[in-house]
Amino acid sequence: MRSTLSILIPRGDIEHAVARLGRQIGTDYSGTNLVVVGILKGAFIFMADLIRHIGLPLEVDFVTASSYGSRAVSSRKITVLHDLSVDVRDKDVLVVEDIVDTGHTVSYIVKHIAERGARSVRLCALADKPSRRETEVQIDYLGFTVPNKFIVGYGLDFDNKFRYLPDICALEDHD
Ligand code: IMP
Ligand code: MG
Repeated sequence: MRSTLSILIPRGDIEHAVARLGRQIGTDYSGTNLVVVGILKGAFIFMADLIRHIGLPLEVDFVTASSYGSRAVSSRKITVLHDLSVDVRDKDVLVVEDIVDTGHTVSYIVKHIAERGARSVRLCALADKPSRRETEVQIDYLGFTVPNKFIVGYGLDFDNKFRYLPDICALEDHD
């Protein structure tokens, strides 16, 4: 069995989508105390580009969520390996995630941040794979809806590899 990479979303389309999302978020959060919280590691490239389009004096923080295993499947058991360092009490939090798959990771993280006393918690995701959803998730800002394929690049990984690819690519197995 060998794997091939094929470009699903080219870098130019990503750039446009990220700029559009950043401008929309900047408009919606004008005059608020915005904290942008990225879910590591997958969101780091998307978030770095996104915040430069928001145009507000926002704060940045990260959480590391872990599901067990490193295969191309998501686990249902979520833990927080690295927690918030910013006090989000009475602030408006925007959670930034690479991809919403089953939905368990973001559901857990959004609830976790809400319990810290945030005034509001919304979600911005680069990609949505709705065909795999197991729990309902509201995505307030979305880059792309993707088919039921395993995708890598622009921060997304397979076994912690391929994050550096500038395009979003589908990883496919062949005989
Ligand atoms: P969920 O909890 O099933 O929604 O899974 C979310 C996490 O699984 C994401 O943060 C990704 O790290 C990972 N994931 C799900 N689908 C993909 C994919 O197609 N490529 C890379 N990572 C994925
Ligand atoms: Mg990941």
